[in-house]
Amino acid sequence: MDNQKVILITGCSSGFGFLTAVRLASQGHFVWATMRDLSRKQALEDELAKRKAQAFIRELDVTKPATIKNIVEEIQKKHFHIDVLVNNAGYGIAGFFEDLSAEEIRAQMETNFFGVQNACREVIPLMRRRGQGKIINISSIAGQVGSPCLGAYNASKWALEGFSESLNFELALFGISVSLVEPGSYPTRIFAENAHYAGNFDNTQSPYYKFSQKLNHVAQKYTRNINRDPEDVARLIEKIVNKSHPGLRYVSDFSSWMRVMVQKIIPPRLFGYIFRRFAYADK
Ligand SMILES: NC(=O)c1ccc[n+]([C@@H]2O[C@H](COP(=O)([O-])OP(=O)(O)OC[C@H]3O[C@@H](n4cnc5c(N)ncnc54)[C@H](OP(=O)(O)O)[C@@H]3O)[C@@H](O)[C@H]2O)c1
Repeated sequence: MDNQKVILITGCSSGFGFLTAVRLASQGHFVWATMRDLSRKQALEDELAKRKAQAFIRELDVTKPATIKNIVEEIQKKHFHIDVLVNNAGYGIAGFFEDLSAEEIRAQMETNFFGVQNACREVIPLMRRRGQGKIINISSIAGQVGSPCLGAYNASKWALEGFSESLNFELALFGISVSLVEPGSYPTRIFAENAHYAGNFDNTQSPYYKFSQKLNHVAQKYTRNINRDPEDVARLIEKIVNKSHPGLRYVSDFSSWMRVMVQKIIPPRLFGYIFRRFAYADK
C-alpha cells in the first residue's frame, strides 16, 4: 500500500477506538492499537484476523505517562516517526455536582483531559521535529453544550475543546494539525458496561435523587433506541487521517449538529424548561 501511515490510537478495547483500529489496519496502515487492560485484546485480535489485517496491540493507560512513553519509544525504534495520534480513550460519569465527589470529578479530568495531554506530550516532539503530523482528539457534542447530570463529563470535554483549539494554532507553526471529532450519542460500551455513576447517584437521601433517577430512566430508554452506527465515527476518523488539510471541528452527523445548534440558539431559560418538561417529568 502507498502512503502507509504510522497511527497510534488509545482506548482500543471497544467502541470507536476498536472500530477505528480495525478499519485503519485493514487498509494497510501501521496501527498501534492500545488499551489499558490487555486481557481485553481477544476481540480485537479476532476481528483483525477475520479481516486478514495486522496491528501492534500494546498496553497503554492514558493516566499513566510511563505506559505512553514506552509505546512511543517502541514506535520510534521501529518506524522513526508517528503520523497520526488518535486520542480516543475516555468515559463519562453521570451525576449532579453535589452528588459527585471531588475525586470522581478529578478522575474524569485525569482520563478525558489530562490523559490526552499526557499522550500529546510524548508524541508532539516527534511530529514537530519532522514538521508534520495529525492529532485527532475524540471530544463530544458534550464539549459544546451542557446537560444536567453530566457536568463532570461536560467539563472534561469543554477543557479538551479549548486545549485542542489552542494547540491547533500552536502546532500549525510546525505543520501539525489538531482536529476534534464530536460525536452525538452512539451505542458503544460507554452507556453500558463502561457507564460510571456518582457515588451518591442512588443515595435516596440526596436532594437530587428524584431527578437523577428520572433522568437516568429517560437516558436508558434513549440510549437503548439510538440507531446511529459507531462505524460512522470510525469512518469520519479515517476521512481526517486521509485529508491533506484537516479542519478543527467535525460533528459526527447532521442530527448531532442540529442538537448543538438548537441548544446554542434557544435561550438557556427555555432550554431549561425543555429539560424539566421532558427529562424530569413523572413517568
Ligand atoms: N459513544 C458515544 O455516544 C460517545 C459520544 C461522544 C463522545 N464519545 C467519546 O468517544 C470516546 C470513546 O468512547 P466509546 O463510545 O467508544 O466508549 P467505550 O466503548 O466505553 O470505549 C472507551 C475506551 O476507552 C478506554 N479507556 C477508558 N479509560 C482509559 C484509560 N485511562 N486509559 C486507556 N484507555 C481507557 C476503555 O478501556 P476499558 O475497556 O479498559 O475501560 C475503552 O477502550 C470517548 O472519549 C468518549 O468520551 C463517545
